[in-house]
Amino acid sequence: MNPMGPESAGAKAFYVTTPIYYVNDAPHLGHAYTTAAADVLARWHRQRGERVWFLTGTDEHGQKIMRTAAANGFSSQEWCDRLVEESWKPLWEHLDIANDDFIRTTQKRHADRVQEFVQDLYDKGEIYKGGYEGPYCVGCEEYKLPGELLDGEGEYAGRKLCPIHKKPVEILSEENYFFKLSEYGDKLLAHYEANPDFIQPESARNEVVNFVRQGLQDLSVSRSTFDWGIPIPWDPKHVIYVWVDALLNYATAVGYNENPQKFESTFPADVHLVGKDILRFHAVIWPAMLMAQGLPLPRKIAANGWLMVGGEKMSKSNLTGIKPQDLTSHFGVDAYRWYFLRAIAFGQDGSFSWEDLTARYTSELANDYGNLASRVAAMVGKYFGGTLPEAMADGEAEKAIHDGLVAAVAEADRRIGDELDFQGGILAVFDFIKQVNGYLTEQEPWKVAKDGSEGARARLATILYTAAESLRAVAILLNPVMPETSQKLWDSLGAEASLGALADQKVQEAAWWGKLPAGTTVTKGAVLFPRLEEKAQP
Ligand code: MSP
Repeated sequence: MNPMGPESAGAKAFYVTTPIYYVNDAPHLGHAYTTAAADVLARWHRQRGERVWFLTGTDEHGQKIMRTAAANGFSSQEWCDRLVEESWKPLWEHLDIANDDFIRTTQKRHADRVQEFVQDLYDKGEIYKGGYEGPYCVGCEEYKLPGELLDGEGEYAGRKLCPIHKKPVEILSEENYFFKLSEYGDKLLAHYEANPDFIQPESARNEVVNFVRQGLQDLSVSRSTFDWGIPIPWDPKHVIYVWVDALLNYATAVGYNENPQKFESTFPADVHLVGKDILRFHAVIWPAMLMAQGLPLPRKIAANGWLMVGGEKMSKSNLTGIKPQDLTSHFGVDAYRWYFLRAIAFGQDGSFSWEDLTARYTSELANDYGNLASRVAAMVGKYFGGTLPEAMADGEAEKAIHDGLVAAVAEADRRIGDELDFQGGILAVFDFIKQVNGYLTEQEPWKVAKDGSEGARARLATILYTAAESLRAVAILLNPVMPETSQKLWDSLGAEASLGALADQKVQEAAWWGKLPAGTTVTKGAVLFPRLEEKAQP
């Protein structure tokens, strides 16, 4: 937990969220992808010295969960409790996800506030009673427009399919309550226009703008044919539509209608990270709900692409058979956190392959990065008895390293912290690692060491100080992505004693040359990225 929660005084927290996930099953690689990205972003901003609030959680109401629970012989609540405690929370802990809060939509703190929000909209005349009949996809928990459905083939011949789940839709006919979403089209378009960064990436923004331009329909916000949900306060035969219930988690978790100080110092979100499958809910319905209440809108909705399997979105029904734990037990948690952000441009779809992860692990993590760290520690041990020497005389080669670091820090900070370009930011750091490797290859400290002269000794000290000081910065820059190995490196450089905890090191100051004082004890700690044992994909 973050010790400086939003309750503490001061500026508004940097507030980042993941979607709250359906607990109809255990988390898979796709869910972990969005969550790891959010965690890296949260950690990055913490290392900028900002107050951060990072929220994740679970979405527990609706027909999809109710049916799964029943099919497994559980009550809906028991099913949710079990999955949250046995699958979801343990995975996030395993993956070193440092969220500040975990909201569950079945919690009273959420349900009570949702009822108040919806009642308030009703009192303001934003919600009315009506009837609707149309195709509904339970997988999406969403009414579909007839035009977007696919024609079924094979076992589904003659039926209409959801374009995302490729399963037949159901025709629902209900009397229920509607939110006047259709009245918000122009206001939404004006907001997108005035805030070009509101939806990221550009392709996602264009999709939403085109969708809204076609005209919005009012949104059914209640269901009366099942009861697994939060009752409509003025008409409890109805439950609140699961998406309205779920979106409100971003407000209820930070004190909406309950703790004004916490709410004002946290809300709205700076970034809602979402998969592109749920973009419209976040970029259309959610802002319209907030407009209707006169609440401020989030700063940014960032849509990530899909992890694909065989050309389809990875989902419960088409998993690769590889669980996050299968990867972490072979490659380690840090390599796992790093890989998806490194390999896939954020916002685009990407495929995962065991071979690709193996190749990148070996060349980039173990060879480029891990070897550099162990070589430098070994040489400080061998030539200076493990005490970091002072740089005696920086020359052109050292100046190039200093400049390279300044550029890497600025680029990584802009790309990860501002642009959510995780791949670009990670590459900036790894390019710097390559530069330091190149520097050592050129300077050949092992040869300099053989020359017994005074001048050569000073030269050797300068080279090794330069490499170690570069690694100090690398540990800081990679800490949000790979906290476990970064800490190992920090320990091996003996940095904690003079510079303090790694997580307290500011990104902006990472390039200040000379921070790591000469005289620290450098030890050859555990290998950062051990060689992979021969093991086939499970
Ligand atoms: N409960 C809703 C979200 C409510 S938010 C107010 C929901 N849940 S979900 O369990 O289906 O998770 C959806 C999110 O998981 C996606 O938006 C995405 O962030 C992540 N992913 C699930 N499968 C994924 C891939 N195959 N690839 C990338 N991300 C994926 O929708």
